[in-house]
Amino acid sequence: MEFQSKLLALCSLHILCLLLFHLNKVSAKVPAIIVFGDSSVDAGNNNFIPTVARSNFQPYGRDFQGGKATGRFSNGRIPTDFIAESFGIKESVPAYLDPKYNISDFATGVSFASAATGYDNATSDVLSVIPLWKQLEYYKDYQKNLSSYLGEAKAKETISESVHLMSMGTNDFLENYYTMPGKGITIHTSTVPNFSCWNS
Ligand SMILES: *[C@@H]1O[C@H](CO)[C@@H](O)[C@H](O)[C@H]1NC(C)=O
Ligand SMILES: *[C@@H]1O[C@H](CO)[C@@H](O)[C@H](O)[C@H]1NC(C)=O
Ligand SMILES: *[C@@H]1O[C@H](CO)[C@@H](O)[C@H](O)[C@H]1NC(C)=O
Ligand SMILES: *[C@@H]1O[C@H](CO)[C@@H](O)[C@H](O)[C@H]1NC(C)=O
Repeated sequence: MEFQSKLLALCSLHILCLLLFHLNKVSAKVPAIIVFGDSSVDAGNNNFIPTVARSNFQPYGRDFQGGKATGRFSNGRIPTDFIAESFGIKESVPAYLDPKYNISDFATGVSFASAATGYDNATSDVLSVIPLWKQLEYYKDYQKNLSSYLGEAKAKETISESVHLMSMGTNDFLENYYTMPGKGITIHTSTVPNFSCWNS
């Protein structure tokens, strides 16, 4: 399940990387990378919530700095880390819930992603992971903290010029009635959050 999910996510990220290659040519200045999504871009948030959807054990992370299994569903870095590096920002994007990091790290990049989540609340319920609406709540808190850290004007500028990246949706299809009949999951057609709230 995770494999298929990752494969699909990687295909879309591959397209994004191609796009990035062109962005690099115009050397756009991007202050931060802000990430929402599932296991394809979770940098370790699930280590800090009660769920089995974790990858904090070997062989995950064996090629990461220090050989540490950070919670990334990868042997090393994940696509968003490479994207941050391509923009000349930093080598890896930290997980919002990791207490090792604070707002001075998050000011240049943060991941709110949570493995096994999806657009539908029902998807995130299956393994008790962070639903998309909660990732948006975290994002709002983050914006407040950024304001007190950078000052309101600078924080607004950072938010408006940052790359916002989302990688999810495959779990909405994979965690369904057929793969998890006991869970009685049904996909809701009208439960996708209203993204207009992102600007508030
Ligand atoms: C963030 O943590 C570093 C040490 O890891 C510390 O030097 C810095 O003062 C902290 N920044 C804030 C804003 O708390
Ligand atoms: C953001 O601010 C809240 C309230 O002041 C604080 O509890 C929290 O630790 C801060 N988070 C970060 C990442 O600095
Ligand atoms: C998802 O769950 C949250 C929290 O219970 C709720 O506020 C929100 O309305 C739900 N979303 C949908 C589309 O039902
Ligand atoms: C989404 O939110 C915006 C701003 O709050 C509102 O104007 C719009 O009508 C909403 N769209 C839907 C489909 O609910």
